[in-house]
Amino acid sequence: MSAPTRVAILISGGGSNMLRLVDSMTGDHPARPVLVASNDPAAGGLARAAERGVPVAAVDHRPFGRDRAAFEAALLEPLLAARPDILCLAGFMRILTPEFTQRFAGRMLNIHPSLLPKYRGLHTHQRALDAGDDVAGCTVHEVTAELDDGPILGQARVAIRPEDDADSLAARVLVREHALYPACLRRFAAGDRARRDLP
Ligand code: GRF
Repeated sequence: MSAPTRVAILISGGGSNMLRLVDSMTGDHPARPVLVASNDPAAGGLARAAERGVPVAAVDHRPFGRDRAAFEAALLEPLLAARPDILCLAGFMRILTPEFTQRFAGRMLNIHPSLLPKYRGLHTHQRALDAGDDVAGCTVHEVTAELDDGPILGQARVAIRPEDDADSLAARVLVREHALYPACLRRFAAGDRARRDLP
């Protein structure tokens, strides 16, 4: 078997998507996790990744203030040391500079909790509810310089119920994220960039 595809994952919080990605990379999966890194040293996902034997790193973004490039330069040290082939953003809540995304062009994925191109940015579930939408969902896409805008690798849909609020909707979408992201990563790591939505 050739060397597995090396996957690094960036998180900012609990990392539930990261955990599903890490746990999916076993057996005949073409990829293996090589690093989980966070902009928040207190991110709960770091301990959960370490429990699974995945190397972790934390670079606190706060000392860098508004200097995004300086924060990214610090983040790149452990990141490049892990020699990732693919970079997955999973609940990573920092905006990345075009220079950073360009460095990983064509090999960086993100999961966004809406049916892009609807609702780029934040508060996606509340915006769908406020708009009176009857369906919500999540999208895995390649990351480009434009926020939440790259080629879509897959989407999963969730019916909105009359009694939903943002929290109840987010909880059902998150379950679908946990199925969608590992499926998209496995295809992407095998060289398949075709879009495939979950039924
Ligand atoms: C999820 O809604 C994901 O779509 C968004 O961040 C939220 C938390 O993700 N990007 P996780 O539990 O930290 O993976």
